[in-house]
Amino acid sequence: MSRRPLIAANWKMHGTLESVQAYLETLVRRVPVAGPEVVLCPPFTLLPAAVMIASGSEVAIGAQNCHWEDKGAFTGEVAPTMLADLGIHWVIVGHSERRQYFGESDQTAAARAQAAQRAGLEVIFCLGETLEQREAGETMAVLERQSAVLAGLDPSHLAIAYEPVWAIGTGRTATTMQAQEAHAALRRRLAGLFGTEAAAALRILYGGSVKPDNAAVQLAQPDVDGALVGGASLDLEGFCAIIHAAPGGRRGAEE
Ligand code: PGA
Repeated sequence: MSRRPLIAANWKMHGTLESVQAYLETLVRRVPVAGPEVVLCPPFTLLPAAVMIASGSEVAIGAQNCHWEDKGAFTGEVAPTMLADLGIHWVIVGHSERRQYFGESDQTAAARAQAAQRAGLEVIFCLGETLEQREAGETMAVLERQSAVLAGLDPSHLAIAYEPVWAIGTGRTATTMQAQEAHAALRRRLAGLFGTEAAAALRILYGGSVKPDNAAVQLAQPDVDGALVGGASLDLEGFCAIIHAAPGGRRGAEE
């Protein structure tokens, strides 16, 4: 089963109107046609401009979070229907920084993901173990627990991002063996939840200090179907190099 690689940029809380304009105007020209799928997830404030600039291009725009209700008294939150209304196609859910700093749980992440899919959005659902959990030999148990809530989702509008917490923003990446082992375990788990065929079609991205110099080896692993890139995606050249490192990433690319 060949899965089209998915390379997503997570800008986190970075970027200005000026920077997103300059970045995207170049990115849309440099993304290879029929290469990997490319998604840019800037902060909420930059989404309208990003959607406008990327319109009609190979680059899709995603948000970094959404609420689990379509409307209501939830000050400061953004509904998935609002994102869909804006022309957003993707949303990241359950990122470890949301889990770590904003009280995100497996259950709230699942509720957000379900609401996002109801609104017609594609979901990148993040999971991954902490260093403490890895050292205690609990990695597989943690992934099993975190992925249990995926059962209520539609696998055809879902990508999973395996992001070991100890590798995010630390410059420390999982070895290709660690990544492949976790991805293969996740795919077996997904087969249990959704059936073998759906699991074989589901993309599992690796995230955690993906850089131009380590992207190619990670993306060459049989169960690594793309990358969720934080820090390195802020630099356009770096992000383009990561796109080009994906299988098919150079096809027709404008240098
Ligand atoms: P990083 O972040 O690439 O800066 O480690 C990845 C992520 O948090 O999605």
